[in-house]
Amino acid sequence: MDQVQNYISENKKRFLDELMVMLRIPSISADPAYKDDVRHTADLVEQSLINAGCKLVQIYPTKGHPIVYAEHIIDPKLPTVLVYGHYDVQPPDPIELWDSPPFDPVIRITEKHPDGAIFARGSCDDKGQMYMHVKAFEAMINTESLPCNIKFIIEGEEEVGSTHLETFCSENKEMLDCDVVLISDTSVIANDIPSITVGLRGLSYVEVEVTGPNKDLHSGVYGGAVANPAQVLCDMISSLKDENKHITIPGFYDQVVDISPEERIAMNKAPFDKSIYLKELGVSDTIGEKGYTILEQTSVRPTLEVNGIWGGYIGHGAKTVLPSKAFAKISMRLVPNQKSEHITNLFKKHFESIAPSGVKVVVRPHHGGEAAVTPSDTPEYRAAAMAMKDTYGKDPIPVRGGGSIPIVALFEKVLGVKTVLMGFGLDSDDIHSPNEHYGLFNFYKGIETIPYFFKHYAELKR
Ligand code: BES
Ligand code: MN
Ligand code: MN
Repeated sequence: MDQVQNYISENKKRFLDELMVMLRIPSISADPAYKDDVRHTADLVEQSLINAGCKLVQIYPTKGHPIVYAEHIIDPKLPTVLVYGHYDVQPPDPIELWDSPPFDPVIRITEKHPDGAIFARGSCDDKGQMYMHVKAFEAMINTESLPCNIKFIIEGEEEVGSTHLETFCSENKEMLDCDVVLISDTSVIANDIPSITVGLRGLSYVEVEVTGPNKDLHSGVYGGAVANPAQVLCDMISSLKDENKHITIPGFYDQVVDISPEERIAMNKAPFDKSIYLKELGVSDTIGEKGYTILEQTSVRPTLEVNGIWGGYIGHGAKTVLPSKAFAKISMRLVPNQKSEHITNLFKKHFESIAPSGVKVVVRPHHGGEAAVTPSDTPEYRAAAMAMKDTYGKDPIPVRGGGSIPIVALFEKVLGVKTVLMGFGLDSDDIHSPNEHYGLFNFYKGIETIPYFFKHYAELKR
């Protein structure tokens, strides 16, 4: 282990420079205008794996963005770890809220990152975390310390629902055959409080359209009589939760399994300071579902949130108009046992049924995904916990995550394998927000920890 750690510390500067190059390419999967940039990033990932010494590296084009696949088999009898990551990023908007350009990475010191953090879209989610695996692999190859087989699947469509990866997995089951999936695309509680994510929420995402009159109308001439779609949409949305912030869609909670009192006690032992939480977000209080703690509300309870809402006049000054249409994008975070498609159907049926007369309502489903639990009594969890203990000097705390990585449930369904979520970001790294950043401490800690994972995993599986 000394050798591999020495290799890492001798090459630190270069690892960072290489990551910077990747962060300069705007691989925004959601926007067709960036298709070539996404492709170039895939090429760069391919090249980085070749340079790291990987025996087989291949780009697979899809109807969407390409998938980079690689493998390095040292002995078919040894266990195989499949590393998953994504090289696509979220759009940087609103761009004017960035303190430096999103695709021009710079290092700045912050309160949480006294050693500096790289500010760029994708620095934490997930280019920075994915690249740690490429560099840890390079270090293991160059010090001849890779103890088992490794495969990589690095996709370019995670932020848009991994649309083509499911088919790719079903069509290439044999190629992807492995013992476990390893992913760094989540966070730790703090840089001195390591944690491992043991569950992710599912997702159901819809867009709604409310149509009233056949054209925009003068709000003085017609307002007061004709249904205003913007107003109706607000009323409909606010009826989706009751005074306890319980979701009112009939059947929404039917499949939810309540967590046991023991689990609740255990999870609420995780360090959490509400006053710091409020201060960091600039809010005076939280208003989540009654009867649950903030940690529970943001991880083991299902939620419904408006992600965007628009309609009517939003230009300069005032225009007195009664809009013809209003829209909203609404997402629901789901917990284990709730099925994304089923919840989408329940939403659609309910939302259409509460439309008052005088408007038409259309619900259009977007992508979805299932929740996942990644248990802590497996060799892969133990290997990850031991690895973090080696590098942080503390046992990691198991925590349920609030975000979603739909491919985790699909890996289990299609390939029949479990995942270990050993992420190194911080929740405060502003992923998906302006000024996304990733600590240099976190980047290097990840590269250092990964070889320990391989060592412990190979030993535990012997
Ligand atoms: N890496 C995130 C998911 C995440 C972040 C999990 C932090 C746990 C902690 C991932 O890239 C992501 O953003 N997923 C999307 C879902 C996807 C279907 C668009 C999400 O959670 O909104
Ligand atoms: Mn991610
Ligand atoms: Mn993301």
